[in-house]
Amino acid sequence: MTTPIEGFSKLSKEDKINWIAQHYTQHPKETIAVIKQYWNEDEKLQNLHDEFIENTITNFYLPLGIAPNFLINNKLYAIPMAIEESSVVAAASKAAKFWQTRGGFKTTILGTEKVGQVHFMYHGDSEKLTKFFKLVKPRLINSVAPIVKNMEKRGGGIKNIELRDKTSDLDDYFQLHCTFETLDAMGANFINSCLEGFAQSLKEEALCYEKFTDTEKDIEIVMSILSNYIPNCVVKAEVSCPVSDLKAHHGITAEDFAKKIVRAVNIAKVEPYRAVTHNKGIMNGIDAVVLATGNDFRAIEAGAHAYASKDGRYTSLTHANIENGIFKFWIEIPLALGTVGGLTTLHPLVKLALEILQNPTAKELMQIVAVAGLAQNFGAVRSLVTTGIQQGHMKMHLLNILNQLGATEDEKINLIDYFKKHTASHSAVVEAFKELRNKK
Ligand code: MEV
Repeated sequence: MTTPIEGFSKLSKEDKINWIAQHYTQHPKETIAVIKQYWNEDEKLQNLHDEFIENTITNFYLPLGIAPNFLINNKLYAIPMAIEESSVVAAASKAAKFWQTRGGFKTTILGTEKVGQVHFMYHGDSEKLTKFFKLVKPRLINSVAPIVKNMEKRGGGIKNIELRDKTSDLDDYFQLHCTFETLDAMGANFINSCLEGFAQSLKEEALCYEKFTDTEKDIEIVMSILSNYIPNCVVKAEVSCPVSDLKAHHGITAEDFAKKIVRAVNIAKVEPYRAVTHNKGIMNGIDAVVLATGNDFRAIEAGAHAYASKDGRYTSLTHANIENGIFKFWIEIPLALGTVGGLTTLHPLVKLALEILQNPTAKELMQIVAVAGLAQNFGAVRSLVTTGIQQGHMKMHLLNILNQLGATEDEKINLIDYFKKHTASHSAVVEAFKELRNKK
């Protein structure tokens, strides 16, 4: 049994490592070696990473891959993706190549509105509160003028503040529902600072409002925070081509192939068990680019899944149809992304990823990320309705299994070649590996 520790964050990095190794691992010496193996020799770079979070002991690697040949609105992109799942970059690259010769991806920004809320309790007459709000709304906006100044200069800022009566859901619960335009910034800090300013002014103004009783004056601010649900910050990405251009795949006609894709998407529309996995496949592409570009993938995940449930049932984020001989496949997804602020200028690989993407604006990044999600979904559904997912997946996973088994470079070459003609499963790979070793 270990005992709790006081003041862990104040220990030096070495002491933190020693403590964790001694208290929570079987072989402290080896633990320390593993931890230090991932330190960067460049002390400045290591310090930068150490300071991103509290209690850093080492770095946690994820591969950064490139999916080339994405034709988006007639411009070619090579998309950086940070992800551990073996088949994702390969699937994205394959889908990009497929659509590159069929007109590429077309995208449209449907909105860029961000949301934040001040949640508060008010005990009293709601009509009085409405009148009070009308009176003080300009003052609330004024109170954050210094915070908003720069954003306004660039064309962004506060779009609106609305008073919402939520008492039918929870006694005495009201909110200021606020909308913002944050341009190339994701905007979390800007929004939260504005909200905290509104909250403070709201409380102060209420205390001086003569028409309120003492109870009404005592507005209780519960919290002020941005929302990751942003149904009006949405991008659409689509591909389309004549059904006949889809060509026969794996022994099925182009028409059957198109119909199978539409059917698979329609199943994800009506069946939540399938929709969750279908959307997970979309997020494979989305998260990988979001992570590579230093954006907040948890915010993107939460917002996307909420959007997938906006009509009361969890459903597919992509859509497909065939009309007049044209196959169309598209996604609509909320994406609050930033290309300035946050890690964008701090993390050297994030900076590089943005450079590879030709330094996009936030709107351009929304389009690229949505395309990565759509491409990933196309790749997954294509495999699912034709060969099945395991063929491609195991092909990519083969190296992981061989590395786990401790295969040498020669053994890897030999077995990769062998599994070009044989079906790879975990047990088949183990078996073939043992046989190869025994031959020696
Ligand atoms: C695996 O990471 C993603 C898939 O399950 C997505 C899907 O089923 O559509 C293949």
